[in-house]
Amino acid sequence: MDIEVLRRAPLFATLGDDVFAALTDELTEVDLSRGSSVFREGDQGDQLYFIVSGKIKLGRTAQDGRENLLAILGPGELFGEMALFDPSPRTATATAVSETRLAALKNENLRALLETRPEVSAQLLQALARRLRRTNESLADLVFSDVPGRVAKALLDLADRFGRPATDGILVAHELTQEELAQLVGASRETVNKALAEFVQRGWLRLEARAVVILDIQRLRQRSR
Ligand code: CMP
Repeated sequence: MDIEVLRRAPLFATLGDDVFAALTDELTEVDLSRGSSVFREGDQGDQLYFIVSGKIKLGRTAQDGRENLLAILGPGELFGEMALFDPSPRTATATAVSETRLAALKNENLRALLETRPEVSAQLLQALARRLRRTNESLADLVFSDVPGRVAKALLDLADRFGRPATDGILVAHELTQEELAQLVGASRETVNKALAEFVQRGWLRLEARAVVILDIQRLRQRSR
């Protein structure tokens, strides 16, 4: 398994080589193709997952079948830990949006590490606090921002985490369909399409298959505020 990406993840960066090697012996590899889920909302869970490569969407389904995306996670990030700290069924369905490789760790193995290494606990708390901050911000945006503003913000966030320089801007290969992008910003596909079309027409971005190229990041930033 290519564990270099995990070695650099904040959670493990402080561990000595021996402790890290012992931990990686306990990891099991999980390979997913686009569209396959590693677990579903409501399942019982006894392990958590680190993303080695690819991307995972975390989604919840309402009674009427509509889907809402909580987050898109990429390499080095972890998920599935809530069932460990607050034993209860999975709170979301985790689905690969591209070819994805995960490393699974049994809760009992993480628990043993946390008992002996307080700095790992501190890193984990920081990751959870960061997630809460992000969730609070999304909640405020749902109340205070219009759909184009939320689309602009979501694209900037995806650019921050997955963007790469391109000849004429920043290529953001988010791997999401327009339906999934709409689920991420909490709006209908039609409204999100309209916002994207307006950004294209103004020359702020170019659309590609499951990707965008941001051509004018300043304007997009202004629109996201
Ligand atoms: P768990 O409930 O075990 O399974 C679903 C996982 O989704 C959950 O653990 C968290 O790791 C993750 N998750 C839940 N809510 C959020 C959120 N708001 N932002 C990012 N990840 C989340």
